[in-house]
Amino acid sequence: MSTADRRPIGVFDSGIGGLTVVRALMDRLPFEDIVYFGDSARVPYGVKSVATIEDFTRQIAEFLLQREVKALIIACNTMAAVAVEVVKQVAGEVPVLDVIDAGARAAARVTHSGAIGVIATPTTVNSNAYARAIHHLDPDVRVYSQACPLFVPLVEEGWLDHPVTRLTAEEYLKSVLVEDVDTLVLGCTHYPLIKPLLQQVCGDEMTIVDSAVTTAEATARRLSELGLLNPQREMPNYHYYVTDIPLRFQSIGERFLGRSIRQLEMVRLGN
Ligand code: DGL
Repeated sequence: MSTADRRPIGVFDSGIGGLTVVRALMDRLPFEDIVYFGDSARVPYGVKSVATIEDFTRQIAEFLLQREVKALIIACNTMAAVAVEVVKQVAGEVPVLDVIDAGARAAARVTHSGAIGVIATPTTVNSNAYARAIHHLDPDVRVYSQACPLFVPLVEEGWLDHPVTRLTAEEYLKSVLVEDVDTLVLGCTHYPLIKPLLQQVCGDEMTIVDSAVTTAEATARRLSELGLLNPQREMPNYHYYVTDIPLRFQSIGERFLGRSIRQLEMVRLGN
């Protein structure tokens, strides 16, 4: 067995939302070590400029590469939307996967009507990254995007099945639902937590693409193709780095992750 296989997978996000991707990775690849980085001191990224997001993203990718990760997973849709090239540049030979590529592929595969809705942060929607990725796969598909800036704070508040969240979802989704959309991409780390509510608002017929699950699937495939899967069958090691540990961090993080967070360490970037 090469020692390369036993290196951890590096996953990063603007905050704790990327733990939805970690959770899906833990389910799909239960023997892989994971190093997570959440920039909790500087979240949210979804309303910041491209130059700032590129700068922050480079710092995070370099930090994880120093920890000898065997792959970099961009769990943040906003970073994936505007800074994937920066990550690829610093990653060199290390494979880079991201939530947008995985989500776009899954959506293009499942749509029957040829119309896909994408909900995401304002920066992700403005970047047009999902529409570009989907059109690259199938130029005939129509993509309707809607920015939903209020969802991130509502999810962080824990209002996962709350009348305010439901009303907000109904309002946001109006413009998407009037089109003949049969597939809805959750283009933000936080949205998988309100998937049941969104399914109710959209109706059972709507296929909801959860980019956390599709990213875990894509990661498993890529690591297998590259011969990088860890063949060991031991309890994996999970390490979490964050740039701040705000009030309620642990409880919110554990809700995203679906299990307890141990080995949590605070670090500073960009000094
Ligand atoms: N992680 C971000 C995303 O997936 C949401 C939170 C933020 O705005 O930083 O787009």
